[in-house]
Amino acid sequence: MNKLRDTVWGYRLSIFVAVFLMLVELAVELALPFILKKIVDDGIQVSNMDAVVYWGVWMVVLSILAFFSGVTNTFFSGRVSQGVSYDLRKALMEKVQKFSYSDLHMFSTSSYITRMTNDVTQIGNTLFMSLRVMLRAPLLIIGSVIMSFIIDPGLTIILLATVPIIITFLIFVLRIGSKQFKQVQQRLDEVNRVIRENLMGVRIVRAFIRAPKEESRFGHVNSELKDDTIRVLKLMETMMPILLLVMNTAILLLLIIGREKVLAGQTNVGDMVALMNYALRVSSVFSIFSFLIMAFSRARASAGRVAEVLDADEKLPELKEGRVNLRLTAPPSIQFDKVSYDYPESSEYALTQVSLQVRQGDKLAIMGGTGAGKSTLLQLIPGLLVPTNGEIQINETSIADLSISELRKMIGYVPQESFLFSGTIRENLLWGAREVDNQTMLEAAKAAQIHETIEKLPNGYDTVIGQKGMSLSGGQRQRLSLARALVMNPKILLLDDTTSALDAATESKVWESLEQMDSTMLLITQKVKTASKCDSILLLDHGEVVAHGTHQELLATSTIYQAIVQSQLEEGETWPLLTTAEQPIELN
Ligand SMILES: Nc1ncnc2c1ncn2[C@@H]1O[C@H](COP(=O)(O)OP(=O)(O)OP(=O)(O)O)[C@@H](O)[C@H]1O
Ligand SMILES: [Mg+2]
Repeated sequence: MNKLRDTVWGYRLSIFVAVFLMLVELAVELALPFILKKIVDDGIQVSNMDAVVYWGVWMVVLSILAFFSGVTNTFFSGRVSQGVSYDLRKALMEKVQKFSYSDLHMFSTSSYITRMTNDVTQIGNTLFMSLRVMLRAPLLIIGSVIMSFIIDPGLTIILLATVPIIITFLIFVLRIGSKQFKQVQQRLDEVNRVIRENLMGVRIVRAFIRAPKEESRFGHVNSELKDDTIRVLKLMETMMPILLLVMNTAILLLLIIGREKVLAGQTNVGDMVALMNYALRVSSVFSIFSFLIMAFSRARASAGRVAEVLDADEKLPELKEGRVNLRLTAPPSIQFDKVSYDYPESSEYALTQVSLQVRQGDKLAIMGGTGAGKSTLLQLIPGLLVPTNGEIQINETSIADLSISELRKMIGYVPQESFLFSGTIRENLLWGAREVDNQTMLEAAKAAQIHETIEKLPNGYDTVIGQKGMSLSGGQRQRLSLARALVMNPKILLLDDTTSALDAATESKVWESLEQMDSTMLLITQKVKTASKCDSILLLDHGEVVAHGTHQELLATSTIYQAIVQSQLEEGETWPLLTTAEQPIELN
């Protein structure tokens, strides 16, 4: 809760002013019954008009004071609640940006979204209410008891007797309420998750005619949310009549005993009027108490959820200062030394003891079956994943000694699944490198074979692509994603099956541009034709290196590679690259 507390504490000045104004309002509210007593006892009962006017004027003046305090209080309370909400959202977003890839899996995406929106709103609203009324309620009760005590200690005992009962009861309700509200927020996460999945996967839902199933899945989580919310509301609703019963019993007793005392001449009518007034004020506070307790339990649950994110450790110190300053002027060499990686939530290693060497400016093709660990290997280089064991070096400098942002600036990474942002094509292309001139951007788009397609769009480079680039085809998205990496003119280029969705002709054009790139390249591919053009090929199987060498070497030595080549040859076809005098190698 520390960061949360610090955030609120940052607004102490406004909080102080708001609380002060709230106290002014409260003081007026407590003074009014007392003035009423004065009007009755010193004015009406003894027919003294001057006293009535005198105290009447006081009443009006104080009421006006209370009115202005109230208005100003609202202003400051709003400032605090909106300010804290803004800061919390900002802090949460910054925190999430600092999480490493694996830290992020702590919560689901929809849970992060609920925490950043709904939970923060709950906290903000409750802060506002606290500064407006929540503090006033208990203080009004305490103040009323004290004032009553001054007026008539004997009768006040009756009011006082209710306090321990009520406090015990309230603590009980608050405890259960927070727990139940936490559950409600979790249900909200689930509802958000299902909505999100259905919207993002709308095509697949329709293609598989899953709509009715998905509707019932949504119906299920939706009704769970409803049931849990009703349960906690019921708790809150039963609370109010119980409190009022206790209070009204006390008021009834006050009336009966008070009447006796007035008749016996032990107390006067004005005192009784004031006492009744205080008692009624207290009971009217109780009628809003269930509402306040509800808001408070809910905010408590939300605060816990926000704090969970804010106070989590991040394993990857993104802003880490690099110990070594590495300025690349030419494509570097890359070396893996016995690198292993296991995903936190998985029991098996995704990569085991991978060692490899890529010389400066070389192209390494990575091949292997699905789940072999290819994408994992690539993600280790820009530090998206941190090796469990072993070391990765760039130009013989360990990447652990570089600052993460320094490291990432050298690297152009094209992930397996292209991810584009809502906005124009230009914004997407310049997303990683803002200071790039138009010419460089155009060249990158041409190299990625997407320039002509963009030109044909109604607004060219300024065409707005929908959320995640939904208005583009898979292949177009891939090429945009490639162009986005090329724009930065990186010295290291990592391509995760970037040409999988391209036709052969486009692919070979893309390849021609890549050959001219001045960078060290690691590219994952399923195609022998692509791999054979690289300087060397790495074969991965179940996270281990099973072969590493040139196309020719692997053809001669690796049975797995031979099998892959075999599977990609069409009937009657010999290997097209072996066009020299040598005979096509017999594959067995
Ligand atoms: N986030 C993750 N959490 C846990 N396990 C993971 C995660 N991502 C991948 N894995 C596992 O790690 C192994 C290697 O995955 P990786 O994505 O590197 O495979 P790949 O070779 O790129 O496969 P593909 O060709 O299908 O893209 C797989 O067994 C996979 O199940
Ligand atoms: Mg992959």
